[in-house]
Amino acid sequence: MPSPTNRRPARKAVIPVAGMGTRFLPATKAVPKELLPVVDRPALQYIVEESARAGLAEVLMVTGRGKAAIEDFFDRTPELEAALEKKGDQARIDAVAKSTDVAQVHFVRQGEAKGLGHAVLQAASFVGDEPFAVLLGDDLIDARDLLLEQMLAVQAEHGGCVVALLDVGAENIDKYGCVAVEDAPQNGAGEGDTVVAITGMVEKPKKEEAPSSLAIIGRYVLAPEIFEAIRSTPPGRGGEIQLTDAILALLEQGVPVHGVVFSGRRYDTGDKLDYLKAVVRLAVEREDLGPALRPWLRSFVGDLPPEGASQA
Ligand code: G1P
Repeated sequence: MPSPTNRRPARKAVIPVAGMGTRFLPATKAVPKELLPVVDRPALQYIVEESARAGLAEVLMVTGRGKAAIEDFFDRTPELEAALEKKGDQARIDAVAKSTDVAQVHFVRQGEAKGLGHAVLQAASFVGDEPFAVLLGDDLIDARDLLLEQMLAVQAEHGGCVVALLDVGAENIDKYGCVAVEDAPQNGAGEGDTVVAITGMVEKPKKEEAPSSLAIIGRYVLAPEIFEAIRSTPPGRGGEIQLTDAILALLEQGVPVHGVVFSGRRYDTGDKLDYLKAVVRLAVEREDLGPALRPWLRSFVGDLPPEGASQA
């Protein structure tokens, strides 16, 4: 087995996008959930931009049936650009070009939906023998909060694997991968985030059995040994090959696994309510939309009937 403490820096990112998006039906009958707009950009574009910003501009998307529109989105559109050129619409030309130029995007198909671990395994030949990041499309991290950069720094220092953690409270932990940690947090990684050494992991535990309320949110920096671990991971929770189980297997082999406990802004665009909140929060802060949206929002909220009052 190659050295588990891999000191090469990560350069590549893997984004699994094969999920069905049932929570957004009927919209997702014909549009992949990853392309639903958050203000005016698909959720997935934010993820690719985040990856590129952290220095990972080689991106592999693991897709499935019904996701061809994602490939179209990251392709160049010469006809559209020519039409905008004719109109002299430079702002839109730039917006269109930015969506494709930000990273080198590659695609592979998962074939069968056998779980997140199985999706990540499809990236084995793309990644080769170096550490890499995995970004899940449902979690948007605010561009001002440098989570992935911190995780890459922790991986460069300690080797092994690094996961992003968020305290979601004991009442929500059964929806996530959950970790046990050494009680004394290590040095802060900056901006209020904390680095912890992980001692155990369990995928979507029962609330009463969860070792903590620290949930894995959708960012990972993984050692390439993860592929071998996934190959020998049997189906787990939900009959799926779980990434959490494969990382646990590495931990049990002595590979260091750390967590960065995130204290910044995260939006779960896989959840309808959080999706709405993400759109409003991001739009309010935009220079082009915020000045008109903020006063409207204030008066709209002011006019809302108190909770519990009947709607006219
Ligand atoms: C996946 C992972 C889980 C993690 C979650 C984060 O679950 O299996 O460990 O906590 O993503 O969003 P999913 O949401 O795909 O069921």
